[in-house]
Amino acid sequence: RVPVPALLQRPADAIVRPQAAAHPKIPLPGDLFAPERRNSRGVEFGERAALDQLLTDVKTEAADLKPIADAAPDQANAAVAAARAGFAAWSRTPAAVRAAALEQAAHLLESRSAHFIALLQREGGKTLDDALSELREAADFCRYYAAQGRKQFGADAAMPGPTGESNALAMRGRGVFVAISPWNFPLAIFLGQVTAALMAGNCVVAKPAEQTPRIAREAVALLHEAGIPKGALHLVTGDGRIGAVLTAHQDIAGVVFTGSTEVARAINRTLAAKDGPIVPLIAETGGINAMIADATALPEQVADDVVTSAFRSAGQRCSALRLLFVQEDVADRMIEMIAGAARELRIGDPADVATHVGPVIDLEAKQRLDAHVARMKSEAKLHFAGKAPEGCFVAPHIFELKDAGQLKEEVFGPILHVVRYRAENLERVLQAIARTGYGLTLGVHSRIDDTIEAIIDRVQVGNIYVNRNMIGAVVGVQPFGGNGLSGTGPKAGGPHYLARFATEQTVTINT
Ligand code: SER
Repeated sequence: RVPVPALLQRPADAIVRPQAAAHPKIPLPGDLFAPERRNSRGVEFGERAALDQLLTDVKTEAADLKPIADAAPDQANAAVAAARAGFAAWSRTPAAVRAAALEQAAHLLESRSAHFIALLQREGGKTLDDALSELREAADFCRYYAAQGRKQFGADAAMPGPTGESNALAMRGRGVFVAISPWNFPLAIFLGQVTAALMAGNCVVAKPAEQTPRIAREAVALLHEAGIPKGALHLVTGDGRIGAVLTAHQDIAGVVFTGSTEVARAINRTLAAKDGPIVPLIAETGGINAMIADATALPEQVADDVVTSAFRSAGQRCSALRLLFVQEDVADRMIEMIAGAARELRIGDPADVATHVGPVIDLEAKQRLDAHVARMKSEAKLHFAGKAPEGCFVAPHIFELKDAGQLKEEVFGPILHVVRYRAENLERVLQAIARTGYGLTLGVHSRIDDTIEAIIDRVQVGNIYVNRNMIGAVVGVQPFGGNGLSGTGPKAGGPHYLARFATEQTVTINT
């Protein structure tokens, strides 16, 4: 059995709220973050010495545990008022200055990589691999939005017009944006939302998930240190009740939210019920994400990509694979290979470099997932059940369903559902995917171009991955976000994202 540190054996509060630790500035670990590796997926473990140094540094970053207090509603309201007061100055700050602050934030993040990795492991339960790629993604967001912001917000766009008239189109901040972020990417999504809103000239009140307030607090401190004025960025910690106070506030100009479809709907209702300005919502929610593997697919590759897509990050990614459709002709062999690959996974202490699957976020999540596993055991055929240590762990499971409709909601953990289909029924598979109502990610494994094209043509999902795994969208490379029950559509890490946070102003001057 994989030894589990005492920290992770406690079920409630297991994944920790470390106390603020005065920490030395930790130098860049070797060239792990060398520029030529930027925008790669995760960080290669090529430099053994640098990795060893990083691991040592992460271990020395021990921190005491202490809860962070939730804000009171008054504090949430005060944060909105303060952000509003800061808007005039921040919105007039040149885009180049805003961008430089974000670039400095990326630099600071990388120079304190060991500290942030330690935080991601202790508060977020992240494996080393996941923590490294999250840190990479967080820095990528800062740099990408800085670069896009320089281009899009740097100067007003001259528009055509008749002689004697000048026309210009300017992009401006809307006002106070409320940013509500999830625990599964407590650094990358938190910073992605906040930096996009700031780059577009908004002031921000950020409300991180109640499970991961310390990472957020340190990320905000880092942004302030990097040059974002205190008046422009405010943090309010707490649960959904604080989020509700913020979204109901009369003086907000926009909300960016990543989390469940249910909460996105509640926010939409709150915004719609208010008097005053109409406030836009940018929402990225979940998915019942599918993968289709036909008889021409390479079985080894399918097994590898399925295991990565369904079980990496303990399945706690909104992009993760939930529903695998396998062509009947190869299904037995394919399922056997996937189960074989899953059997190799090491589940346990996220701080152990050999761990593939760490804990789930908290006891509530574990109980929900355990209940789903229990239900599936009576309703579906169990092909594989991994072994999890005690604590907040859920072992990978593979169930075969008779019908995709048996999976009625997103199950946010390492549980894969498989459905067989006959080649002539591909159409029904596409209908079943459409019937979920979600539209986030889709995987396709096939070597028939016509099949691939037909699927791409028919499905309405935000991100399609062909003949590879379906997680880990790279900033600026695979803009990420879905449709339908999966969100309002804007693509984080894409060239059109910042515009969704802005308002446009046309100025026509009779010269
Ligand atoms: N952006 C993440 C991914 O692509 C999901 O949240 O895996």
